[in-house]
Amino acid sequence: MIPQDTIGKIFDAADIVEVIGDFIHLKKSGSNFKGLSPFANEKTPSFMVSPGKRIFKDFSSGKGGNVVTFLMEHEHLSYPEALKWLASKYNIEIIEKEETEDQLKEKHQREALYLAHQFANEFFKLSLRESDEGKSIGLSYLKKRGYHLKTIDEFELGYSPDNYSALENKAKEANYNLETLKKAGLIKENEKGNYDFFRGRIIFPIHNITGRIIGFGGRTLRKDTKVAKYFNSPESEIYNKSNVLYGLFQSKNEIIKNDCCFLVEGYTDVISLHHNGIKNTVSSSGTSLTEGQIRLIKRFTNNVVILYDSDPAGISASFRGVDMLLKTGLNVKVVLFPTGEDPDSYANQVSNEDLKLYLEDNQIDFISFKTNHLLEKTKNDPVNISKTINEIIISISIIPDAVSRSVYIKKTAQVFEMDEQLLINEVQKKLRSKGATTTVVPVSTKSTLPSKPFEKGIKHDLVEQEKDLIRLMLNYGARSIPLEIRNESEESIEEYPLAQYIIEEILTDKLSYSNEKYQLVFDEFLEGLQKGLILNEQHFSQNNDLTGLVADLTTTENTLSYNWKKKHQIHTNLESERLKQAAHQSVYIFKLRVTENLILEKQQSLKNLESTESYESILEEIKELIKVRNIFADELGIIVTQ
Ligand code: CTP
Ligand code: MN
Repeated sequence: MIPQDTIGKIFDAADIVEVIGDFIHLKKSGSNFKGLSPFANEKTPSFMVSPGKRIFKDFSSGKGGNVVTFLMEHEHLSYPEALKWLASKYNIEIIEKEETEDQLKEKHQREALYLAHQFANEFFKLSLRESDEGKSIGLSYLKKRGYHLKTIDEFELGYSPDNYSALENKAKEANYNLETLKKAGLIKENEKGNYDFFRGRIIFPIHNITGRIIGFGGRTLRKDTKVAKYFNSPESEIYNKSNVLYGLFQSKNEIIKNDCCFLVEGYTDVISLHHNGIKNTVSSSGTSLTEGQIRLIKRFTNNVVILYDSDPAGISASFRGVDMLLKTGLNVKVVLFPTGEDPDSYANQVSNEDLKLYLEDNQIDFISFKTNHLLEKTKNDPVNISKTINEIIISISIIPDAVSRSVYIKKTAQVFEMDEQLLINEVQKKLRSKGATTTVVPVSTKSTLPSKPFEKGIKHDLVEQEKDLIRLMLNYGARSIPLEIRNESEESIEEYPLAQYIIEEILTDKLSYSNEKYQLVFDEFLEGLQKGLILNEQHFSQNNDLTGLVADLTTTENTLSYNWKKKHQIHTNLESERLKQAAHQSVYIFKLRVTENLILEKQQSLKNLESTESYESILEEIKELIKVRNIFADELGIIVTQ
């Protein structure tokens, strides 16, 4: 490992113009340097190096970055290799850091804990399958619940004998270290000596994301209520409850494949659903959802469906946890089971096809669900209705994506037969009280509002988003917006022409427009920019193909509506800040939608796949795309509620 301060020194010493100059002939051009792109075949230089910003930008390929990423791209070096290359050029000595003794010890301790869990689980599994007690009590119970051996194997279920020292004896027999088993909470000690923690229980091992066992839940088979139904492992160096979801290891590929994650209450719900064909299911194991668990879900999908049994008490109590899901930009839907049923019982009662259909047909978005649920409780009492509306407003104002917020506002206005504007104002108030500077970006409020933003399985039409970007460039292209320029050692704010910002953003992700005319306008802008010009509508006045469109986009109705601001009495900060937000929002909604379309395409190709060969690789691609999509969604979240 290269120590952090050495990395800092390397970045400080590296002169980006000099380094890139080793590979490319650069010529000074204003405060920048220009050259022919090394990543594309071109005749006119579009490769730019800015010594001030210490970055390069290649307008042909869209690549850009700092001196290290240049070496990584151009020379195909890894990150440490690129650093070493620079260190040798600038005579900086690298003394690689060894792991300290403490770090090594900690690593060994964690490893020992993993092994202890593995050891114990081998014993529990064996007890379930081989011992008389395990077979007659444990296995027969699981079979009675309908689980086949395949499911039992997949979840590595086990049985702990009803005996105070079964595991301990096994450990001694195998010369296994008792101390680590104690640390894992598997063997306890009191004044009489050691005893096994799990006794006479079905064992549900809890896996981390890579499939290693980090803890256990044990369900009693006794009918009396004197003992707790479940015993659970204590937290340890490898088991942090709030960062674990039960079943995620077994479901993650299916979550990616379906771009959806079902969330249930407990171990048996996960297993029953899985067993009955719904394999994209996880559980927070009886506790309310934590932020760590939500982050885990977000790594694989943006769509969560919560499965509720029909017990009203539990439902209201869960609303706070769901607000947390909304806050992170996840699309949350809900399925309610018929009276008296929970996911486990229902799954075992109907056929796999009917279960699947039920889950598909009964999904409703969380805001509507909450509305219905609260309304049912309050009936027609006006005081309570206003309370209900307020609760809904809170949930809506938490959603980071402005587009989704608007959709929900519309829906809620319809349900309560209220003036939409009134609701908008209320949501604004909530947002403002949370310290948001700009709350709704006026540019896209009207035209880019897709009526069904979350409809799965349907591709987004991108024309409105494309139009928005072109409109901004035509109307405000030369206006400066403040951008934070970040490189490893410093952060600064620079004024940047809006058109250049949009163009660079589009090129960086190699995006293009589906609408031919918009693409033409964009290309002309790019060409102008390469000559140092920022075009405006006059440029297009002699182009018969485009002038109509340009005129249309630059007439007042289509520009940023200043009246809008007055009408809605929204206090915005500086105009340029507002333009920045408008541009940022438009760019990222576009990127988000493009990525979502790509994900959909891949998912569809997965369904039509004939060989299993490319399956894994497509799954990997989808996983990567979902990560990218989440980055874009986060960007939107940050800008809207900052
Ligand atoms: N739970 C727990 N400790 C308890 C009770 C419950 O950790 N004393 C957690 C478990 O993760 C359990 C979940 O809460 O799976 C849901 O509880 P419950 O519905 O009571 O258990 P089920 O797993 O559904 O068990 P069963 O269907 O066998 O009754
Ligand atoms: Mn249950």
